[in-house]
Amino acid sequence: MKLAARIFIAALVAAALGSAGFMAFANRHASLPPLDAGVRPSFPQELVERGEQLAGLGDCAVCHTRPGGPALAGGLPLPTPFGTIYSTNITPDRETGVGAWTEQAFQRAMREGVDRHGRHLYPAFPYDHFAKATSEDVRAIYAWLMTRTAVKAPAPQNDLAFPFNIRALVAGWNLLFLDKAPLKPDPAKSEAWNQGRYYVEGLGHCGACHSPRNMLGAVRSDRPLAGGEAEGWYAPGLGAHAGAPVSWTQEALLNYLIDGWDERHGVAGGPMTAVVNQLAKQPEDVVKAIAAYLVSLQPEQPKEAADRAMAFAKDREFKQTGAAAASTDKGEAIFARACANCHRAGGQTVPLALATSLGAPDARNLVQVVLHGVQPPEGAPERSMPRFAGALNDEQVGDLVAFMRTRFSEKPAWTNVPDVVKQTRAAH
Ligand code: HEC
Ligand code: HEC
Ligand code: HEC
Repeated sequence: MKLAARIFIAALVAAALGSAGFMAFANRHASLPPLDAGVRPSFPQELVERGEQLAGLGDCAVCHTRPGGPALAGGLPLPTPFGTIYSTNITPDRETGVGAWTEQAFQRAMREGVDRHGRHLYPAFPYDHFAKATSEDVRAIYAWLMTRTAVKAPAPQNDLAFPFNIRALVAGWNLLFLDKAPLKPDPAKSEAWNQGRYYVEGLGHCGACHSPRNMLGAVRSDRPLAGGEAEGWYAPGLGAHAGAPVSWTQEALLNYLIDGWDERHGVAGGPMTAVVNQLAKQPEDVVKAIAAYLVSLQPEQPKEAADRAMAFAKDREFKQTGAAAASTDKGEAIFARACANCHRAGGQTVPLALATSLGAPDARNLVQVVLHGVQPPEGAPERSMPRFAGALNDEQVGDLVAFMRTRFSEKPAWTNVPDVVKQTRAAH
């Protein structure tokens, strides 16, 4: 974060912390009594199953499981611009998990971002989205969580710089940015549309990655789904802001969101991979509703424009020739040597000019794919690609990426590609 912004925030914080009124406001949440020890709550099987499905939609296990660690026991580091926050243990262990939490405490955490003891939780936990879920749906997730295997595992200490290590400050953040009002169904729209919006804005928390954030890390409510970021990746705009050269159809979205691959859009990579692996397990009507909702937000693409984009993509497909391999354009020569075996006219891959990453505002996703390859979602195991982090140095990646932008997109050249390459390599 910029220094001026830090100083400004620090000054605000000092003022807030000095004010008894603010601290009383921030600490107004009661510590809720624990569940009686020795009582394992039980729930109807149907509720537990519904909870499992909804927890999948909410990616609870994705964030609350560290690589190689026990499911839901927490410990995954989440880098934020303010420092690193670790996910917590949400198994029903009484001491280190949520085993002593009543349903009331759990509902409050999901809706207000406050833990059982009344402490504020950081919005790295996307409660600003989960707040839109109905209390019945939250109840089902509670039933599922409380019937999992308890694991003893304390969460690692967060690593946040002053003043962000002061939890009470989140009270101010909530005051500014947390909208707890339930979504009002739009009677003019179909039930599927309303369901789709509910999933996208609520448990699905698509905007947590796909919406831009302001200086204080809050989703900008004036630009929903206009494109955001996640773990060093650009999360492209969706709906009204979708940036794919050929507009998404409902069918293409279903392919992408369930299988992780579509013939006109390519493969789901980076942080989207885990999301797709969860969506693949959802009942099809859930993903259909999400797709219907997103497509309804898109402006109609005239047929000529779609035809033109398809023709451009076909025309720009790479032809593997001796001349290309000997090109004086260093990027083109690298492409011919390292990539054209798979990415060429007549090959098995999607024309690169159809991928959103080539037309994106910056080079991040392309550089991610070149350095780290593609580990595709479970539904598209054959769509994998090797990594080139070891085979190509930073300069070569830069040349390659610059060549690809010119060849596979009509957008202007990217600026600061060398920085993107350096940062992407360093972050891994
Ligand atoms: C994007 C990552 C992410 C996702 C997705 C996520 N969480 Fe979390 N969650 C966190 C982090 C990080 C914390 C710890 C926040 C803190 O320390 O203030 C947390 C904290 C919690 C807490 C508070 C636990 C405690 O001991 O105080 C609960 C309860 C919780 N999450 C439940 C869920 C449920 C249920 C889901 C799925 C519907 C879910 N989370 C999805 C990141 C996530
Ligand atoms: C062994 C085959 C293979 C090689 C070699 C290869 N790729 Fe790929 N690449 C794939 C496959 C498979 C996909 C998944 C998408 C698909 O099927 O079209 C993919 C996806 C991509 C994507 C993402 C497109 C999308 O779907 O969003 C980019 C960008 C890309 N490759 C660039 C490169 C570059 C640059 C090189 C050379 C440095 C390269 N690839 C080398 C097989 C390969
Ligand atoms: C953890 C962050 C994260 C979450 C949560 C997330 N996405 Fe994504 N999504 C991404 C990233 C990053 C990409 C880019 C992947 C790539 O280029 O391979 C992406 C790509 C996509 C794409 C392809 C866009 C394009 O133009 O190529 C679609 C569609 C999509 N996501 C839909 C969704 C929906 C619907 C949800 C909610 C149910 C969702 N995403 C939740 C991070 C996320």
